[in-house]
Amino acid sequence: MGHKVRVSDTGEVFEVSRDETILDAALRTGVRLPHECTFGGCGTCRVRLQEGCVHYDEFPMALTPEEAEQGYALACQAHPDTDVVLTPANHGPVLAEPVHTVAEVHQVEPLTADISRLVLQLPEDLDCDYRPGQHMNILLPDGAERSFSMASAFPFGNELEFHVRHVPGGAFTQERLPALKAGDALDIEIPKGTFCYHAEDYRPMIFVATGTGFAPIRAMLESLLDDEDCPPVSLYWGMRTEADLYAREELESWLGRLYEFNFVPVLSRAGESWTGRTGHVQDALAQDFQDVSEYAFYLCGSPQMVTDTKRVLLGLGAEMDVIYSDSFTFHHGQNEKPVAA
Ligand code: FES
Repeated sequence: MGHKVRVSDTGEVFEVSRDETILDAALRTGVRLPHECTFGGCGTCRVRLQEGCVHYDEFPMALTPEEAEQGYALACQAHPDTDVVLTPANHGPVLAEPVHTVAEVHQVEPLTADISRLVLQLPEDLDCDYRPGQHMNILLPDGAERSFSMASAFPFGNELEFHVRHVPGGAFTQERLPALKAGDALDIEIPKGTFCYHAEDYRPMIFVATGTGFAPIRAMLESLLDDEDCPPVSLYWGMRTEADLYAREELESWLGRLYEFNFVPVLSRAGESWTGRTGHVQDALAQDFQDVSEYAFYLCGSPQMVTDTKRVLLGLGAEMDVIYSDSFTFHHGQNEKPVAA
């Protein structure tokens, strides 16, 4: 005997059998719930439970115990214990449907010892309506997919920029990327994901990135340059070493172009000459703020960083609904969405 689930904003009702997750049953019955990784790593399927309760076979990586206590659940991992009424928690702008297309490699160049800048050219007739913060999938010949976030706010002349960390043994970043040359074709699906800037949320913003989690945040910040409606912006960017801060000069040149822009690089393996912040980004943030209840947050990096930062923010009074995040996730160890520093 299963349990009934009702989606409060659409009124849709479906039944979840004993061995199914809420998301499994929704997909089986044609009910659309936001989702992406389907293994508890990205947080896209977060829902708020208005009634009922759920359990997990294993507590998911992309949910904190504090979120669970506040009534949030991850639909892709949650099994209902009772009938449930829920609302998808990741509300936001309406996003374009992804399309398959063939992109042409325009440029590959090193940004650091293990991060490359990849520039792709989209077909001229493709109207690529992505939101800064979203990503694309590269489709490999064996059917596998690799996800990379757009680092540019808009396609400039249909060119898109990506920051790609080389993953040891990675089928794309190690096998394919070093051999790519201008003119090569890549099958891609774009746009993907729900991580994006929420213009409707007019609060001071704190962006937190580690490693190439900076890429989607760079896209969002670029979209806000010289915007008179831009709320105050703080950026905490965690990297290992000073040489890894590949966008530092560019960010410093944006100081007068983003409202009250506060850029805080944080190094986990700083050299002796470094006089800036060291350690973990979430700790630097906690040292700088006593109360963050008035802020909105955009987090992108490793699942561990995202989870740890959420816990810090909740402890400082943040509202869960305005913590927007995107974790790098690894589909059975195969996905090369770049690893955070
Ligand atoms: Fe559920 Fe990613 S789809 S956490």
